[in-house]
Amino acid sequence: MCGIFGYLGPKNPLQICLAGLEQLEYRGYDSTGIAGIRNGQIVFCKKAGKLSNLLASMTLNNLESAIGHTRWATHGQISDQNAHPHLDSLHSIAIVHNGIIENHHSLRARLIEEGVTFSSETDTEVVVQLMAKYYQGDLKSAVQQVLALVQGIYAIAVVHKDHPDQIIAAAKECPLAVGLDPMTHESFLSSDPNTFPSSNLDIFFLKAGEVAVIRKGVAEVYNAEQQPIYKSTERLQLHYTEPSKEGFDHFLLKEIHEQPHTVLKAILGRFQELTGNVEFESFQIKDEELAAYQRVCILACGGSAHAGSIGAAYLEELAKIPAQCEIASEARYRSMLLTPDTLVIVISQSGETADTIAALRMAKEARCKILAICNVPHSTITREADAVIYLKAGTEISVCSTKALTSQIAVLALFALHMARLRGLSADAAREFFRHLQQIPKQIHQVLNAIPQLRKIAEKYSRYDHFFFIGRLYMYTTSLEGALKLKEISYVNANGCPAGELKHGPFALINSDFPVVAFCANQQTKDKMLSNLAEVKARGAPILAFAPLGMEDVEIIANDVFWLPPTTDLLAPFTATVAAQLLAYYIALERQCNIDQPRNLAKSVTVE
Ligand code: F6R
Repeated sequence: MCGIFGYLGPKNPLQICLAGLEQLEYRGYDSTGIAGIRNGQIVFCKKAGKLSNLLASMTLNNLESAIGHTRWATHGQISDQNAHPHLDSLHSIAIVHNGIIENHHSLRARLIEEGVTFSSETDTEVVVQLMAKYYQGDLKSAVQQVLALVQGIYAIAVVHKDHPDQIIAAAKECPLAVGLDPMTHESFLSSDPNTFPSSNLDIFFLKAGEVAVIRKGVAEVYNAEQQPIYKSTERLQLHYTEPSKEGFDHFLLKEIHEQPHTVLKAILGRFQELTGNVEFESFQIKDEELAAYQRVCILACGGSAHAGSIGAAYLEELAKIPAQCEIASEARYRSMLLTPDTLVIVISQSGETADTIAALRMAKEARCKILAICNVPHSTITREADAVIYLKAGTEISVCSTKALTSQIAVLALFALHMARLRGLSADAAREFFRHLQQIPKQIHQVLNAIPQLRKIAEKYSRYDHFFFIGRLYMYTTSLEGALKLKEISYVNANGCPAGELKHGPFALINSDFPVVAFCANQQTKDKMLSNLAEVKARGAPILAFAPLGMEDVEIIANDVFWLPPTTDLLAPFTATVAAQLLAYYIALERQCNIDQPRNLAKSVTVE
C-alpha cells in the first residue's frame, strides 16, 4: 500500500527519491508523485499508474529537497488528481500521506464554508489545506495544530516553499523511519527503512503523534504534547535486495519455486538432534515462562491467518495446549477475554498489516506477551512484539503470498514442537516429527517437478468461473488458502468450504459447471472425505483431487487426480499448498491475468 520516501541533502534529491520510490513499489500502488522546492516555489509531478508513467512525464529538476509517494487508493478513485503530493490552494505547502483521516468529511465541509476550493477527493488534501490555514511562518507549529484536529492514522511528510532546508514528518500508527547521516549532511525518510540506500544511517521511527523537523543530517523531534524529546537512534542491518525474477516469467512463479529452499531456511539450525529440543536464535521468552501459559491465541489476516489456523491445530495436537487463530480485523472488535496467561502470537509476512498491528496493541493492553512470526526485519510488528521468530524467507515481491506462507507453517510447526517439549513430549517423539518435517523441502521439489502435469490440469479447469475448494482438518485450511490464491490472481469465484459443510447449504450451487477441488491428504478423515466426494459426483460437478500417492480410492471418484508425496497428516499442508499455488498460477496464465499486479490488491495492507 502507500509508501513515503523523502530526501534532504547535498546529492540530487529527485534521483534519490525516485530510487526510493522504486524500492517501495513492492508494497503495491496505483499512482505516484514527487514534490520539492526549487527557487522558492513548490514544484511537483504526479501520475496515475506505475512509476514508469511518472518518469515518462517527469518535468522536475534541480530540487532542493524531495518528498515522494506511492498511493494505493482509499479516498477517491485512481487518477492524476488524487495522486500525492497534495498542495494547498496557494501552492505554498506540499504533503504526502499514508493512512486514513477519519474526520475528513467534517473538516472538509468547514473549509468549504470558509471558501476553500478543493482539487481532489482525498482526505489528504483536507490536511494540507488546514496547514495553510494555520501557517504563520512556522511550519512545525502549523503541522502540530492540524494534527491535534485530525482523527485517524497517518504518516506524513510536508514541505513549504519558504523552508527549502526542512521536511516536517509525523506519524501515528503508520510506519515512518528517519535516517540521518551527520557526516554527509543527508537525511532520508521512508515507510520502510530497508529501502534506505546506506547502512551508515542513524535511524529512528516516529510514533504516537510525534513530529520531526528534519534538516540536512539532523532532526529535532517533538511528542504529541508538542514537547521536544530525545529519540535514540540505531544502526540497522538493512535487508534490501534488488528484486529480480531470475529468469522466471513472474515473481509469483519464482517465489513458488523458492519454497524448497525457504522452508529449509525456516527450519535449518533450529532443531537440536541430540536433545530433541527446538532453539530459536536470540529468543526472548524463557522456557519456564512458555511452559506456564495456559492458552495460545494467534492473530493474523489473509493467508497468514490460514497459516495461523494450521499453527493452532499443531499446538493443540503436539503441545496439547488450547489454541485458537482469530482473524485480526475481527478479533480487535471482540471481547477476546485475553488474560496474561495467554501467549499471543501475531503472524505477518510484511509486519505492517494495520489490522494485525491493531490486534497486537489490543493484546498488549490486556498485558499479554506478544510473539511475532514475521518476515520483514525492522517492521512495526517486529518492533512492537516482545519476541520475534523470523521466517528468513527473503523479500517476497509477489502480492500473492506463497513462500512466506509455507515458511510460516514451518516456523509454527517448530514452535509447536518447542511448546510440546516443554509440556512433556519425549525427545524421541520430537525427533520423529522433525524427521518428517525435514523431508518437506524434498517433497516440495517433487511437486515442482510435476508442473507439466499440473499445467495440463490447469488448462482444463481454466474455463470454469466458479469453484469450491474443500477439505477436512488441515486440508480444510489448505482449501481456504488454495481458494484465496485462485480468486486473487485469476479473478474467478473460488470458495473454500469444509467438506462436511457442503450438504448444509453450498450444495445448492453445485452443477456440472461448478468444479470441486478436493484436498484429500488427510488419512484420518479419508473415508468421510470420499463419501463427501461421492455426494459431489452424484450432483454432476467435475472433481479435481489433490491426494497423497497411495490413496487409490480417490481415482475412482475424481475426474482428475494430482498425486502428492505422502507425509503425515500434520505436515500435508505444505505440498498441498504448493500444488494449489501452481494451479492458481497456471489458471491465471491461461486466463491472461496480470499475475504480478493483481487488480485492487496491495502487498502491504497498511489501512484497516
Ligand atoms: C494472500 C495475501 C494476503 C496476506 C495478508 C496478510 O496471498 O498475500 O492475504 O496474507 O494481507 O499480510 P501479512 O502477512 O503481510 O500481514
